[in-house]
Amino acid sequence: MFNELRTQATAILHSTGATVNERLQELCDLLKETVPHYDWVGFYFKNGNKEELKLGPYAGAPTDHTIIPFGKGICGQVALSNQNFVVPDVKAQDNYIACSITVKAEIVIPLFINGENIGQIDIDSNTPDPFTDEDERFLEYINSEVAKIYTI
Ligand code: SME
Repeated sequence: MFNELRTQATAILHSTGATVNERLQELCDLLKETVPHYDWVGFYFKNGNKEELKLGPYAGAPTDHTIIPFGKGICGQVALSNQNFVVPDVKAQDNYIACSITVKAEIVIPLFINGENIGQIDIDSNTPDPFTDEDERFLEYINSEVAKIYTI
């Protein structure tokens, strides 16, 4: 599944007929529709010079958390740590921002441009403990491709 998705995602991200936001939207829709354990897929980006994240394109239920201060929740922690954060069970996390009561697990992968952490891809799952190394490698690849087209 992920090999074919890499090809499709790469084609979407480098399609010149659409804006970057349109391409990211199409990518979020594709990932949510294709991967059974991806129930919400979205991008957060650093909000200008502020120490906060701002919600970008996403697929899934609307969220109230359109702005997340650095340090808050899983997303805010990744903004500071620069590390992948895989959460098999969100109930076991103290510093977690709940978006929906159906969510059981979450994965957040930072997005770097020239070594700078400028955002992240965030995925929620309604399946407990669904994420493996394969998800991490796949999402790192996605972010590296996004980094080639995104301008801060
Ligand atoms: N759960 C995230 C907040 C974002 S929503 O999942 C869309 C967090 O704890 O940072």
